[in-house]
Amino acid sequence: MRTVFGFALALLMSAASGETPVERGAYLVNSVMVCHNCHTPRGPQGLDLSRALSGGQTFDEPAFKVTGSNITPDKDTGIGNWSDAELKRFLVSGNRPNGTKVAPIMPTEFYTVLTARDLDALVAYLRSVPPVRHETPAAEYKIALKPEAPTYAGKQASEQELTDKLARGRYLLTIAHCLECHTPEGASAVHDFAAASGKGGRTFKGPWGESVSANITADPAVGIGGWSDDEIKRAITQGIARDGLKLKPPMAYAAYATMTAQDLDAIVAFLRTLPPRN
Ligand code: HEC
Ligand code: HEC
Repeated sequence: MRTVFGFALALLMSAASGETPVERGAYLVNSVMVCHNCHTPRGPQGLDLSRALSGGQTFDEPAFKVTGSNITPDKDTGIGNWSDAELKRFLVSGNRPNGTKVAPIMPTEFYTVLTARDLDALVAYLRSVPPVRHETPAAEYKIALKPEAPTYAGKQASEQELTDKLARGRYLLTIAHCLECHTPEGASAVHDFAAASGKGGRTFKGPWGESVSANITADPAVGIGGWSDDEIKRAITQGIARDGLKLKPPMAYAAYATMTAQDLDAIVAFLRTLPPRN
């Protein structure tokens, strides 16, 4: 009965917004889930969208050296030969059709919450983008990687629960993998989700020099507990800190700027509930 109700509601919601699976998938890939940030090549002017999703940044870490894969439908260098079922299984498990496991920089552990509708939408959109032929360097795995259990992840969400504002905010914050960057890593590159979720303190090096992720918990002194909703929204969508200074990459401010007002409200409302850490 509940399942039938949830299904009917999901149909109603997509009917109400008039959104097709491809449109929903475009919104997820381009706005909320910021796939381009890691999967689209960068030129001097920023992302090179003429070769969108054909392979991106290289991450050279103690545990692995990997490059954002070509996820266009090109059959030789992209994922054109993966079936829909293989792609969905990969997105929530990190297991490729050939049996290898992806490095955890690809946030599949966060994607375990994806609803059935959003998984279908992601597949529909990824199938619809132009295939681009572009070979990315092979991955190097240096140590065995431990599975991680990010805060709020691990269980598939239902469309029905996303009608609640806080639950929707939690879902969006999870698939946007905010806590991947905003939680410090301990030994062997494992995040300290249990004790320090949202506390910040990870260092990111790149063409921008160095940036350190901020404390985004509700702590009033070192977190964002004392910020207004508008200040938080400005930081997320324009990359402007409370004191007016420009925030550095790799946070994908421009992509988050294209989220709907309703989704941004939900994320900010949920951020306010992150247990303070200092
Ligand atoms: C934080 C960076 C990051 C984000 C965000 C990200 N990915 Fe990835 N993804 C990677 C990296 C890096 C790899 C390759 C890792 C490896 O080789 O072990 C990868 C691998 C993949 C693969 C496997 C392809 C293959 O040929 O093995 C798919 C499919 C994929 N990502 C899809 C997506 C989609 C869809 C999104 C957005 C919903 C996304 N990724 C968001 C970094 C990211
Ligand atoms: C790829 C890594 C990454 C992701 C993903 C990410 N952030 Fe950030 N974020 C950062 C870094 C690094 C900074 C600090 C930049 C600086 O100080 O120049 C930052 C800064 C912020 C700030 C400003 C806080 C302050 O004290 O100045 C807020 C708020 C924020 N992030 C919220 C979020 C939310 C919400 C999400 C998910 C929707 C998110 N971030 C996703 C890396 C990330």
